[in-house]
Amino acid sequence: MTETTKQFDIIVYGATSFVGQIMLEYLASYQDETISWAMAGRNEQKLLDAKQANNLEHIPHIIADADDEAALTAMCNQANVVISTVGPYALYGETLVKVCAQTGTDYCDLTGEPQWIRAMLDKYENTAKASGARIINSAGFDSIPSDLGVYALQQHALATTDKPAFHIKMRVRRIKGGASGGTIASMLNVVEEAGKNPALRKLLVNPYVLCPEGHPFKQYQTNHKKAQFEEDTQMWIMPFIMAAINERIVHRTNALLDNRYGEHFLYDEAMSAKKGLQAWGMTLGLGAFMVGASIKPIRNLLAKHILPKPGEGPSKHEQLNGMFDMRFYTTLDNGDKATVKVCGDRDPGYGSTAKMLTQAALCLAKDAPEVAGGFWTPAAALNDKLIARLAKHAGVTIELI
Ligand SMILES: NC(=O)c1ccc[n+]([C@@H]2O[C@H](COP(=O)([O-])OP(=O)(O)OC[C@H]3O[C@@H](n4cnc5c(N)ncnc54)[C@H](OP(=O)(O)O)[C@@H]3O)[C@@H](O)[C@H]2O)c1
Repeated sequence: MTETTKQFDIIVYGATSFVGQIMLEYLASYQDETISWAMAGRNEQKLLDAKQANNLEHIPHIIADADDEAALTAMCNQANVVISTVGPYALYGETLVKVCAQTGTDYCDLTGEPQWIRAMLDKYENTAKASGARIINSAGFDSIPSDLGVYALQQHALATTDKPAFHIKMRVRRIKGGASGGTIASMLNVVEEAGKNPALRKLLVNPYVLCPEGHPFKQYQTNHKKAQFEEDTQMWIMPFIMAAINERIVHRTNALLDNRYGEHFLYDEAMSAKKGLQAWGMTLGLGAFMVGASIKPIRNLLAKHILPKPGEGPSKHEQLNGMFDMRFYTTLDNGDKATVKVCGDRDPGYGSTAKMLTQAALCLAKDAPEVAGGFWTPAAALNDKLIARLAKHAGVTIELI
């Protein structure tokens, strides 16, 4: 809920996380508009160190543990939008969502955990609608580029043919970046939860799991599990790990926009590869990782000795030299082909994510008073305004080519 009476436009909660610290750097040099903001976390000394490292001594800080409902309520009462990077969200995220929904405080996060979003929808959507809190999940590399890329292509389809595009394929053409300990912890936690819970395994394969009750979608959706040569795009393709959240967010957007993309809309994501050998190698590598992660002793070994730990992630050099280039392909109702290109100028998961998440929160705080309370997706709530902000302030471009 946009209120001018609150002290801060945004509060960065989890400011000492790997992503949070990149956000602090971004905000420290951000002069494109006047914003009031504060940072928050559970550990005061870490917050003070982060302030000093970024010359942000003048920025207020707030102490709140993820389980401390009273402290989170006091924090929410000071913010128009709380941004949370405290994850895995399935482990630490619920109390903040509950408090935001209860206090009418807007919220953005980076979760890529569909099972957790589903649980939060079931528990707090009605509360958020009643209080006016606008909750936006997955406002980073998952799933802003996918959500806005599809939105932009569908707007073009509707403007030129009066009909939505029936089938959109997203293919990652180039990507350069790495993973952080927080992302790895979130992935391993989903694998662990799914290993124990057959109902959750069923839920995770449902492409419409995040759609509102009573949605009309029944279309079978392609789930790329192996390498293959794709005739129509003339590319080798392989599974894209983020498809598991991105595709679900895109279908929720369709539902929230009153089925604007059509009731039979098809959407699938994959990575492109230069050669078949590369596609098969990456597919087998990913498969081996998933199998290993599902076996407890191997999962523990990976987490302890091989993969990045919480707080670790790609180096500054990797962030600055990272990038992504995603293409959204369709054939319009009149037979013409159309493509949208979405590019970012930093590594996707951290350098670009930090900027996208900040801009989504600022967009919510400043540009979107008309959006009602409830659980939204980036495209359903912020669409063209966020596209414009990302191009202007975040090095992310979305264009028809
Ligand atoms: N959607 C995307 O594109 C995207 C991209 C990147 C990351 N992510 C997700 O974003 C999240 C953050 O990733 P990351 O690598 O930055 O994580 P990280 O470095 O491991 O940071 C986790 C943060 O959670 C805080 N935390 C843990 N338990 C807490 C508690 N009980 N109370 C308060 N704070 C607590 C930690 O506080 P301390 O600093 O005090 O330890 C830390 O700041 C993960 O869930 C990850 O999956 C998503």
